[in-house]
Amino acid sequence: MKCVIIGIAGGTGSGKSTFTNRLKAAFCDDIAVIYHDNYYKKQDELSFEERKKMNYDHPEAFETELLLKQLQMLRNGKAVECPVYDYSMHNRSQKVVKVEPKKVILVEGILVFADERLRQMFDIKIFVEADADERILRRVIRDVKERGRDIEGVVEQYLTTVKPMHYLYVEPTKPLADVIINSGMNEVAFQLVKTNIEKILETGEEDGSAFP
Ligand code: CTP
Repeated sequence: MKCVIIGIAGGTGSGKSTFTNRLKAAFCDDIAVIYHDNYYKKQDELSFEERKKMNYDHPEAFETELLLKQLQMLRNGKAVECPVYDYSMHNRSQKVVKVEPKKVILVEGILVFADERLRQMFDIKIFVEADADERILRRVIRDVKERGRDIEGVVEQYLTTVKPMHYLYVEPTKPLADVIINSGMNEVAFQLVKTNIEKILETGEEDGSAFP
């Protein structure tokens, strides 16, 4: 089966997951979604305190080889068992999620364009952009409400690793994208991408003509 793999990158808090999850909700089981975050390396040998201090914004924090292997399997029409990450434990959980091969596969994450091999897998590359102040505000609320963090910890992590890594590894991948969208909440961008996916699902082809 010919499948189209769409990479969705962008800084933390830019709204990548809102954008991705809206597409998933619109197409349900017609498309597959994979989150690079679920491929953060297993850290069973480290204590919780040690794991807490790790740099999670560096490309080396991810087991990208596993993602590459699983994308290749999906391309070959085979289902895969994706890992599931637990942010509150700073570690991979015991769970896995079965992902079936689909005509359209979305791959979302801060650093999905930073790896050359991964970049080569994408037929369409979308970068979600948002101002740094908006991104950090969203991140503070999200990390405290959903990822079991405290405000002081979020601020310290942002200043020591998240921000410097963003300018070293995330921002430089923006010019590599086919499309740069202004925030993950952008309705016009959502409709454009949705229309393009509908077209791919109908025809099985991606010729880029739905993007201006
Ligand atoms: N991260 C963390 N603790 C971990 C693992 C990851 O704080 N144990 C953080 C990293 O610092 C990284 C972020 O998770 O910056 C990646 O997720 P993010 O892009 O913020 O979330 P998404 O929901 O994927 O995207 P968006 O905020 O754009 O919707």
